Amino acid sequence: MLTPNINYKSLSQSYLFPEMKRRVNLFTSKYPNIHIYNLGEGDTTQPISQTVANAMVAHVEAMKNKKAFMGYGDPLGSINLRALIKDFYNDFINKPLDISEIFISDGAKADLFNLQTLFQGKMKVAVQSPSYPVYIDSLVINGNAGRLKGHSYENITYLIGNPENNFSPPLPNKKIDLFYLCYPNNPTGTTANREQLKEYVDYAIENKAIIIYDAVYSWFIQDSKIPQSIYEIPGANKCAIEVQSLSKLASFPSIRLGWTVVPNNLLAVKGQINAIWKRRQQTSFNGASIISQAGAIALFSKQGLEENKKHILYYMENTLLIKKTCQGLGLTCYGGENAPYVWIKTPNGMGSWDFFEMLLKKSHIICTPGVGFGESGDGFFRLSGFSTKEETSEALKEMVKLFS
Ligand code: MLT
Repeated sequence: MLTPNINYKSLSQSYLFPEMKRRVNLFTSKYPNIHIYNLGEGDTTQPISQTVANAMVAHVEAMKNKKAFMGYGDPLGSINLRALIKDFYNDFINKPLDISEIFISDGAKADLFNLQTLFQGKMKVAVQSPSYPVYIDSLVINGNAGRLKGHSYENITYLIGNPENNFSPPLPNKKIDLFYLCYPNNPTGTTANREQLKEYVDYAIENKAIIIYDAVYSWFIQDSKIPQSIYEIPGANKCAIEVQSLSKLASFPSIRLGWTVVPNNLLAVKGQINAIWKRRQQTSFNGASIISQAGAIALFSKQGLEENKKHILYYMENTLLIKKTCQGLGLTCYGGENAPYVWIKTPNGMGSWDFFEMLLKKSHIICTPGVGFGESGDGFFRLSGFSTKEETSEALKEMVKLFS
């Protein structure tokens, strides 16, 4: 008899983004002529840059030719792309990386999930709350979260982000084996400084723990004092795995390309994690699309980076406008300076989903309800800077009308 690995009900709630879509569809099916402004999911709106697009087209064209045609690629990723990524990091991190530590993927989400499959048993895991839902869901689906008691899983320590700690929670004072950290943070748009990250790194080294560091929003950092990578912190190469993505920088959410850095000398599991991850990838993955990788190689050229950094500035202008407008309306806002998200307290203590429904129905704006990122996100909503300039400014006019 087949028995599922997980009790579906133990996943505490429906997955956030499909649930938002379901509610929006319900509304638009009743009012099909209403224009909806999307400041919800962090989904890019700027087209692929010329340099990246040319490289992908050229690669497809070349594949029409018998000589240039290529079958399976390297499951670990193109050696050229891995070398470019290594050079990219080695310009600013503390200890140089080796190519063997860089694994190309089809995006951060799958890697964040798959990294969980490396571990099992009664480990103690710490996850920021609020946080990107994939961390906790992957712990649950892989059987590592323990039993659900109320709103909490027994093997998870929740690192509560709140206004008092500017959503950068301190180290918990209990033993932890595995941390999930995300900076710049999704959903709160806040950052951690070097000293805060150093505390985590020092603890992880001392306790042979691992930090899974989600750095996918690092491209948005404007303040040069904020670390772009955990590997800027001395010793992080002994304890941290970093996950990256080109979705937001290169407008690749549907093209798919990311990477994960798994250092060779992680102290946990007697330094074997790099070898286990390599084996896992070789066994379960035939590599990221070679076309996406051709685009990524072009992205790392001078021109490619210049073109794509314009996307970041574009989204950050939207984000700053969102923050300024919402503050002008008397709302309490966080983040938004080094990340494309503004985290906002709902007015009059409204619950997140109630506010989502009100904003949708009255102003026709999609926001992301804070509680979708965990219980401590209730009473907040998130607005994203990823829409177009025109849509963002029209949506904000609607918000101004609503609040006045
Ligand atoms: C978000 O809105 O939090 C992100 O776009 C979701 C994602 O990157 O999967």
